[in-house]
Amino acid sequence: MAITILGIESSCDDTSAAITRETLLLSNVIASQQVHQEYGGVVPELASRAHQQNIVPVINKAFKDAGITKDEIDAIAFTRGPGLLGSLLVGTSFAKGLALSLGRPIIQVNHLTGHILSHFIQLLDQEYAPPTFPFLCLLVSGGHTQILQVNSYLNYSILGQTIDDAVGEAFDKGAKIMGLPYPGGPIIDRLAKEGDARSFSFSKPKIEGLDFSFSGIKTSLLYFLRQQMLSNPLFVQHNLANLCASWQQHLVDILLEKVVKASKQTKIERIVLSGGVSANSLLRERMAVEAQERGWELFLPQIRFTTDNGAMIAITGYFMYRLGLFCGLDVAPVSRVGDFEVA
Ligand code: KG4
Ligand code: ZN
Repeated sequence: MAITILGIESSCDDTSAAITRETLLLSNVIASQQVHQEYGGVVPELASRAHQQNIVPVINKAFKDAGITKDEIDAIAFTRGPGLLGSLLVGTSFAKGLALSLGRPIIQVNHLTGHILSHFIQLLDQEYAPPTFPFLCLLVSGGHTQILQVNSYLNYSILGQTIDDAVGEAFDKGAKIMGLPYPGGPIIDRLAKEGDARSFSFSKPKIEGLDFSFSGIKTSLLYFLRQQMLSNPLFVQHNLANLCASWQQHLVDILLEKVVKASKQTKIERIVLSGGVSANSLLRERMAVEAQERGWELFLPQIRFTTDNGAMIAITGYFMYRLGLFCGLDVAPVSRVGDFEVA
């Protein structure tokens, strides 16, 4: 019998629910919260309140779009963490309540596993060959920057990760320093298209192995701009596109260098991109060029599955369901990675 899963994602500022049947996506509804824009970043308290308002309509729409009733689902998968505790609580509690009322099991999903497995979602109108194992995954988002070796659906190891800020934060905070709204990543991406990436250069962080660091370079951007504004208070406005292009190129260079290193080290030439920052057009372009030159097999996620979504939680729930990996109703959300295992 085909397995039908409801996936619920509420780890940060997107309330999302999706329904999958086997690996096929039947619906995926995302309510993004606009309330944070004026604060220049996600305000946890406002995020939980917005989740609370959004969750019922989002779940109802997911069922409506899928054309199925609640009785037809076999299990409910939800993001247990990492993320904002108040936000995670909304999805977790909702999953438990619905599971109790329907008499169905629940599945706790690690948000990061969700990002990785988003590559296995199949769409009705589109044949897609997902990556085979093992592969390297560059997982880049607002909260995470990691290079992982993925050996099977639920078995992976972290080869390298950021020791401070995530690359998404480097995009967002860089944008904030330049006076741009939140989230700055997509805005930098757009403005960079009009600029020359060779205009400004920034020093590279000196981090050994496959780890990353973005906090120091963010501070150096701040000092650089302050210095320039002493002689020209409108320096940012006059150079905005060039600054965006140069900053974006700098961040992409840092990511690429480590992926090349990881591939050489592991001899794995199947490379997969995941997470919000994998929507970045320069990163995608440069990855494609690198793949062409090095003979890599490259998997770029569809843009709709790059940022947080319920589909990636549902598909992970599906693979966990097949292994009987259910959890008890006493499970509580966790805010940090490493507080619970892969799945
Ligand atoms: O995966 P995601 O939705 O949330 C987390 O799990 O963190 O990622 C959000 C991050 C934000 O930092 C946002 O600025 C960044 O992804 N982002 C981008 C682009 N689209 C989203 N960064 C650069 N270029 C983009 N086109
Ligand atoms: Zn995410």
